[in-house]
Amino acid sequence: MAFLPRGAVFLSNFIPEEKIEEIKNAADIVEVVSDYVLLKKTGKNYSGLCPFHAEKDASFTVSPAKQIFHCFGCNTGGNVFNFLIRHDGVSFPEAVRLLARRYGIDLPVRKMSQAMREQISEREKLLAINRMAMEYYHWNLLHDSYGKKAMAYLKKRAMEPSIIERFQLGYARDSWDGLRNYLQNKRVPMNLMEKSGLVIPRKSSTGYYDRFRERIVFPIYNLNKQVVGFGGRVLDASLPKYLNSPETPVYSKSKLLYGLHLARNMCRETRTVYIVEGYFDLLALHQYGVENAGATLGTALTAEHIHMIKGFAEKVILVFDGDDAGIQASLRSVGIFIEKGMQARVMLLPRGHDPDSFMRKYGLEAFEALADKSSSVISFIMESAQKKYGLSVEGKMQIIEALKIPLASIQDMGARNGYIKEIWERLGVKEYDIREKVDAAAAEMQKADAAHRNRPAGHIQQDDHSKRPFMKMGRQETIGSRLERQIIAMMLQYPEILPDIIQDNVLDHFGSETLKSLGNLILSLKNEKDRQISNLISIVDGDEKRNILASLSIREEMWNRKGCRKVITKFIQNSPLRYSVSLTEQIKAAEKDNNQDLLFKLLQEKQNIAVSNERQKQELTK
Ligand code: UTP
Ligand code: MN
Repeated sequence: MAFLPRGAVFLSNFIPEEKIEEIKNAADIVEVVSDYVLLKKTGKNYSGLCPFHAEKDASFTVSPAKQIFHCFGCNTGGNVFNFLIRHDGVSFPEAVRLLARRYGIDLPVRKMSQAMREQISEREKLLAINRMAMEYYHWNLLHDSYGKKAMAYLKKRAMEPSIIERFQLGYARDSWDGLRNYLQNKRVPMNLMEKSGLVIPRKSSTGYYDRFRERIVFPIYNLNKQVVGFGGRVLDASLPKYLNSPETPVYSKSKLLYGLHLARNMCRETRTVYIVEGYFDLLALHQYGVENAGATLGTALTAEHIHMIKGFAEKVILVFDGDDAGIQASLRSVGIFIEKGMQARVMLLPRGHDPDSFMRKYGLEAFEALADKSSSVISFIMESAQKKYGLSVEGKMQIIEALKIPLASIQDMGARNGYIKEIWERLGVKEYDIREKVDAAAAEMQKADAAHRNRPAGHIQQDDHSKRPFMKMGRQETIGSRLERQIIAMMLQYPEILPDIIQDNVLDHFGSETLKSLGNLILSLKNEKDRQISNLISIVDGDEKRNILASLSIREEMWNRKGCRKVITKFIQNSPLRYSVSLTEQIKAAEKDNNQDLLFKLLQEKQNIAVSNERQKQELTK
């Protein structure tokens, strides 16, 4: 038997139609989207900030009745599967399985053919390998003869068994091939093992060795609770203290926060999330009941982190060690907080403490009291610079020096100017003194940004969501005429009109091939259930059509027969096709009457229409 990860049968791509149907019926799009977006009820629909583009207005709309979403800002739309596919970058079968698991629906067990096995995406294989590795490490930790030392270490650090369990902490033995052998026995191919980052090819000879050896292992989860990577800490003072998974197709440190997969509920209750810097810091917070937290994985906060957090919190509290070098790095992220409409506060721990040591020494109440005293990021920078440099003329210049980059990173000019004003008022310096410095820093950053543009994500201020190709703004306005879109909308929302559409050959008059094919699709579906919008969305091909369908059906419109007839009549009367039919009739009549003058005029008219039709067609396909 070839490689078949544990539970691989459930990885089969072969999911029967009726199962997909069952999952679609069980899943609630509002519930699923709520995992990522703070939704507010607005009439029959819900709305919130779009997770697919940067925005301050809530243009993102979810319809519980239709089980679809649509963003009026970036025009992305679809059903619950499309949401997960787009948001998490998963494949369709993966989205189906995620929802099946969530709603407790068993997927049938089938033996996979070779062809099917090949279809399983690499991503899914890597996730399966990671899960096996997590189980292996965890078992080793709990197993007396291997894990004793590691358990003793965790005990020394006052880690409760419940936390070890909740986070599935593990131990990598003092062995060069413990995991490799384990995975090999499970028939995991070497190339995939290497891709997972868990083993490393030997430099001097052939073969592979384990990346993590004699370390406490922290499995790192994404928001779907899939194990995507690992961190590992030594048990003594040797270096490097921590090792982390390399970037892999499933692991990207600029998009992940350790512990965030368990943070959502409490984040939603408190609207707040704490950001710490270490694995043990996060675990300590949990042990003291602070579950609304995430730890960065050895990088500064990125726009992608904030984008992710925005889905369930409005306020970030950055928790810094008293003597933290990381503070400087995080200051650059001020701009993204402001841009994303996210409140950011800084909580400074006493010198020599990190969240882990602070919590254990002073307890939860002291931690929360400090959090209450946290200050906004800009005033934090100003206050710490003031403490450091004093308020002499020279000191004030230093303070401005410290503030110029954070201020320059604020793209919203209104906000930037507001802060500049606040600062010159507080410091009693000339506005010009600040503005000049900030402008110069902004120009400098722009240059650096341009130079970095081709680098991978993770760079502050680069919202790569806004660069995705499907983000073309206002695209729907250019597809078909207003009346054509209106007719498709009524076909979607008022099926009683379908016989009229057939009777009057309405679709024949359509200029837009895309809308026409959607119309024909609707007509081809005979029963009402098939025509349900969430079903239509899953059967059309391509993002464009899906987005159109969502945009045309998300508004609650009140259709009635009379209104529909009016639209149809108006449309057909203005239709170029109808005009050319009547033109053809007139030409025939003129020929018959041998009216040469009229005939000439009519033929010229026909020619003009043909030219303009051709031009229109070209514009549409541009
Ligand atoms: P710290 O050095 O502040 O350690 O690293 P810590 O979290 O307090 O760890 P303990 O309490 O000594 O166990 C903070 C974070 O920086 C990353 C890790 O994510 C770590 O949790 N780091 C640190 C590395 O990636 N590599 C290192 O060598 C050190
Ligand atoms: Mn620590």
